[in-house]
Amino acid sequence: MDNKYNYPKHFARFYDTIYMEIRDSADKDFFLNNISEARGKVLEVGVGTGRFFKTALIEGADIYGIDTSKDMLDVLYDKIATEDHYRISRQSVVDFTFDFKFNLIVAPFRVMMHVMEKENQIKAINNVYDHLEPGGTFIFDAFVPDLKYIIKGFANFVDFEGEYEDGKMLKRTVSTSPDLINQIILTEFILEWEDEEDKIQHEKWTVPLRFFFRYELEHLMERTKFESYHILGDYKGRPLNEKSKEFIVVCKKSK
Ligand SMILES: C[S@@+](CC[C@H](N)C(=O)[O-])C[C@H]1O[C@@H](n2cnc3c(N)ncnc32)[C@H](O)[C@@H]1O
Repeated sequence: MDNKYNYPKHFARFYDTIYMEIRDSADKDFFLNNISEARGKVLEVGVGTGRFFKTALIEGADIYGIDTSKDMLDVLYDKIATEDHYRISRQSVVDFTFDFKFNLIVAPFRVMMHVMEKENQIKAINNVYDHLEPGGTFIFDAFVPDLKYIIKGFANFVDFEGEYEDGKMLKRTVSTSPDLINQIILTEFILEWEDEEDKIQHEKWTVPLRFFFRYELEHLMERTKFESYHILGDYKGRPLNEKSKEFIVVCKKSK
């Protein structure tokens, strides 16, 4: 399960600081509301550092989490009580196993875009299906490809500049290079931060993301076991339209 694409140590360490600022306002309420409405067990696939997980647990959800990155999960283990550690395991969406089923499975924030190959995408979605109770729901998201950036990519965009604790600077710079034929955006992140001795440290990490167009997503879903699905265009639950920036795929297993 270890590979160079696993979210690395400092990316995991600063994940919450960065995404609480640049992502929570978009999707947090949506996923927490869906989790709180579930009638049974919930699984978060690609749970990462548990951006939603801890709140969901406190609010009483019977929630479990899996992820492939040891460094992301280490952050999550530190955030929750030891008696809840059994809820977390290091497994991939492609072949995870549980000996019970879930009412809701969510894969928030680009998790499925990390699954590169067609066979693994289908395996993963069918594996999710097999772990749902009858009538259960699976929700995952992907960004709507923005053709400007898909064709040219972008260079050295600072998406976070602030402090990770009092007086300690943290900056993240992102660059992307597209690979059109493989439908991949190679994303390079550079983290710079001030350490305990006020020295500037760096960590660089490059990860491929597999992007989807709408009808590819529909074809993909129609090759899986799910009997029905629909695609929302935002986290307020509105349908897709020409301004949508998100594909939010809501998949239903029949009762
Ligand atoms: C952008 S993060 C999202 C984390 C969390 N769901 C959130 O919303 O903040 C994507 C996560 O997916 C995980 N991931 C990537 N490939 C995976 C796979 N095959 N199975 C499970 N998790 C995976 C990564 O390690 C990472 O923690």
